[in-house]
Parts: sequence; structure tokens; C-alpha cells
Amino acid sequence: MTGQCSLEDYLQRYSETGPLAVAVAAAIDAIAVAAVDIAELTGKGLLSETSTLATGRNSDGDLQRDLDVRADAIIRRCLGKIPIAAFASEEARDVEIRDPHGRICVAVDPLDGSSNIDINMTVGTIFSILSAPDHFADCFRQPGTAQLAAGFVTYGPQTSLVLTVGDGVDVFTLDRASGCFRLVRRGMLIPMHADEFAINASNRRHWDAPVRTFIDECLTGIDGPANHDFNMRWIGSLVAEAFRILTRGGLFLYPSDARPGYGDGRLRLVYEAHPMALIVEQAGGLASTGYQRILDLSALSLHQRVPLIMGSAHEVRRIEELHCDPLLIASATAPLFARRGFFRV
Ligand code: AHG
Ligand code: MN
Ligand code: MN
Repeated sequence: MTGQCSLEDYLQRYSETGPLAVAVAAAIDAIAVAAVDIAELTGKGLLSETSTLATGRNSDGDLQRDLDVRADAIIRRCLGKIPIAAFASEEARDVEIRDPHGRICVAVDPLDGSSNIDINMTVGTIFSILSAPDHFADCFRQPGTAQLAAGFVTYGPQTSLVLTVGDGVDVFTLDRASGCFRLVRRGMLIPMHADEFAINASNRRHWDAPVRTFIDECLTGIDGPANHDFNMRWIGSLVAEAFRILTRGGLFLYPSDARPGYGDGRLRLVYEAHPMALIVEQAGGLASTGYQRILDLSALSLHQRVPLIMGSAHEVRRIEELHCDPLLIASATAPLFARRGFFRV
């Protein structure tokens, strides 16, 4: 029954579906154990000796905080107890080859949104699990559709695990008293239509025309082609945005833009966009670069970035239309076609 079922029981039932599922279930269990420790660590704030200050830069040039490194170490320790073929993390430059007999590969963003730590906002852990291919070099070069499971944990007011093993999306919340994750939502469904969007609007002047046109349509609200009003949110933490979209619909965009180094947006394909795209699609939403389905892409390099537009299907399709048909942009921006333009009042 919802609320009573522990993650352990859920994983036990799932692992009965086949030998590969046994390996996947063990990895999810290990990540859940790590998440309890990371929740404890992030929850301490300034009471912790762990500094929130930047200690260096990761391979992608992002500031790396002590907490990023600690979260990474906790996950490595927990996953070290089970046989996995290869492990990849945002915090390490290269793929780590582990057990040659391991059947799965795991990629993680140990602490997503870590710049939000200082201001006491939700952060999280994201993970993607794939089967081990014949050649280790190909572990994280598989398309997103090859993922066996994906999930993320949010460390916020609740510590919650959002999980898909390819059969819908379920949510577990940490019962702090028992240290056990309990099933709280089964079969999450993202509403088809969004009435909320999330984008870092400070980058507006750098956006391409399709993104600018779409956001202008949202801002024009009931007076424009969207024909309804939108609310806006930007948390700066992908896990928190994803949790909101799963809960009440909406749209998240981190598109490519004209700033140096942002030609493919900001988010990483292997351990951010791929797992989020699987979760969003499993909940009935869509995830796209604007031109292509995220799950159809394969990474050429581990830390490769990708534009990510995800959420309610209707709005993701509209953005894809604007990317693929430049004439639509011209018509969308012409006053003649606006609902209250030249011929409408
Ligand atoms: P990370 O902390 O793992 O580097 O990820 C942060 C990501 C993502 O969570 C968020 O959506 C985005 O970066 C925020 O980017 P801006 O700082 O450009 O707003
Ligand atoms: Mn991240
Ligand atoms: Mn991170």
C-alpha cells in the first residue's frame, strides 16, 4: 500500500524480473543508502565542518565545492560494495573501470545545484544506470533509450527519491525516524499542458530566436498565441525544477545560447539530461534539445553538454515547432498575427 511500502520491498519485487534487474536494484539500493548520508551532510549547513566554499574546478570548469567532493566520495563508497562494470561522475574527469564481470554502468551527478547550498535551497543527486556493453569504452556512449533505470534524490524540506525502472515514475520519501524510503506516489503523470515555465531569464539577450519567441509567447499570456497566462519559476537546481514539473506540470529550459561555452547549453548529457529525459518521458512528458529527442542522443564524451528543454508535452512540441520552422517565428512575432495585434483589439 502507498505509504507503507519500503524501497527495499519495491526493489526486491523488481529484482525478481531478471538477473539484470538484480544488479540494477543493488545499485539503486546503494545510491539510496548514500542519499541518507548526503541528506544528513547537506542538512547540517554551517554546523558541518564541510566547507561550502569552492575548493577547485571540475573537469567541465565548474566551481567544485567541498560538498560536491564529499557527496561524490559517499556515493563511491556505497557503490564500491556492489559489482559494477564502470562508474562515471561529474566530479571525475574519466570513466572509472571497475569489475570486469559487472553487468551495469552507473553515472552520477553527486550534488546537483550545489551553488544553492549556501542559501538553503533544494539540491540533489542524479543517476543513470545502463547495461555494460561488450567494450568498456562504450559504457557511456549509449543512447538515452538504453538506460535501464534513472532517478534523482532531492535534499530539501523532504528527502525524496524519484525513480524509474522503465515502468512509470514512482516517488519515495525518506522516513527520517526509520532511515527508510517509503513509497508515497506511484505512476507520476506530467499534465499535457504547462502553465508554468522555468528559465534563467538573465540570459535572454543571448538566446536564439526560437527560445526568445517561445518565452515571449509565455509572457504575452492570454493576449498572445498561447492564449493563456503562465507563471514563472527558476530555482537554479535541476532536481528541484524536475520535482515541481512532475508534481504540477510545467516546462524547464536550459537552451544553447550565444555566450562563449554555452553553445550546447549548460547541462551534461550523460548524468543530467539522459536520466531526466527518461524520467520525464516515463511520466508522459517530453525532453528535447529543440531539434532532437534527448533520449535518441549518444554522448561522444563523458562531460558533453546538451541543450535541455523538458516538461509538459504540448509546450515542448511548440518549442520544437519554433526551432524547425523559421517561418513560424516570423509569424509569431508579427503584430498582424498577434491576438491583439493590428486587426484585433
Ligand atoms: P551542478 O551544480 O551539478 O553543476 O548543476 C547546476 C545546474 C542545474 O542544476 C541548474 O539548472 C543550472 O546548473 C543552473 O545554471 P545557472 O547557474 O546558469 O542558472
Ligand atoms: Mn548538476
Ligand atoms: Mn553537481
